Amino acid sequence: MKIIRTTHSMATWSERLRREGVTIGFVPTMGALHGGHRSLIQAARLRCDALVVSIFVNPTQFSPTEDLAAYPSPIAHDRALCREEGVDVCFEPTAQAMYPGGFQTVVTVPVLARRWEGEARPHHFAGVATVVTKLFGMVRPHLTVFGQKDYQQAALVRQLVNDLNLGGAIQVRPTVRERDGLAMSSRNVYLSADERRIAPLLSQALRAGRQMIEGGMSDVAAIERSMRQTIEQSPTMYVEYLAVCAPDSLEPLSLVTDRAVLLGAVRIGSVRLIDNLLVKMPGRKSRATR
Ligand code: PAF
Repeated sequence: MKIIRTTHSMATWSERLRREGVTIGFVPTMGALHGGHRSLIQAARLRCDALVVSIFVNPTQFSPTEDLAAYPSPIAHDRALCREEGVDVCFEPTAQAMYPGGFQTVVTVPVLARRWEGEARPHHFAGVATVVTKLFGMVRPHLTVFGQKDYQQAALVRQLVNDLNLGGAIQVRPTVRERDGLAMSSRNVYLSADERRIAPLLSQALRAGRQMIEGGMSDVAAIERSMRQTIEQSPTMYVEYLAVCAPDSLEPLSLVTDRAVLLGAVRIGSVRLIDNLLVKMPGRKSRATR
C-alpha cells in the first residue's frame, strides 16, 4: 500500500491511472476507522480496479468549540485496516497542504445544509463540501462511497456532485451497528461505560418511529412524540432533534404518505450522537382490490 502525503503526488497518481484506463474507487475518511468504514472500503473494492482511502481530520468542519484537537488519530491502526482490505493508496495530506496560506474558496450547499446538523453546527457542511470538492479534484474517483450514518452529509454530497458536474458515481452504504443497535462512529470512544449503556436508546427511538410508520401511522406529531418518549427513559440523554423528513430534501413532513427518513441527534454528557433510519409507508390498497 502506498502512502501519499502531498496533494500534487495524489493528483499525479490518479492522472496516470486514469490515462491507463484504471477505475478509481474512493472512500474519504477522517481516520479512526471502524467496522462502518470497513464496509465502505469493501464496497468500493468490489467495484473498482484501484482504491484510495483518504485520512484527513478536516479542521474546517469543526467549530472552535468542538473536539478537533481531541479527535482520535490512531494512524497505525488505520493503515493496518486499509492494508487488510486491499487499499492501494492511503492519502494522508497535512492541514498545511490542504489549506495553505491565502486559501479562500468555500463551497456551500445552502438549502440542504440549513436544517438539522447544519443548525447545530453552522460551519460544518461548508467545511465538508469544500474538503470533499478538493479531494474529488485530486483523487478524481469513478466511484466514491459514503455511509448512511451521516445521512445529511451524503445527501449534500450528491447535490454537490450534480450541481458542479464533478463526475463519478456516489454510493451510500447502510449504517453498520453494534450488536445493541448503536451506530458505529469514531466518536463512540468518547462515551463512558454508563453513557455507552444508554447510547442505544437513540436507535431504539428511531426503530420505534419506523415501526409506527410500518404499522400505518402517518401522523408525524404522534411518531415524534413516541420517539421522544423512548429517549426520555434516560434522564441523562437529551434530544437535539428527532424528525420525520422527506428523504431527498430533508424537509420535515407533517404526514407520512410514502418514503421518509427519521433523523435523530442526542447528547449524552459531552458526546453528541446522530443516527437515522429510512422507512416506507406500507402500500395502500388500490380501489380495484379494496
Ligand atoms: O464523513 C467524514 O468522515 C467526513 O465528513 C469527510 C466526508 C471525510 C469529510 O471530511
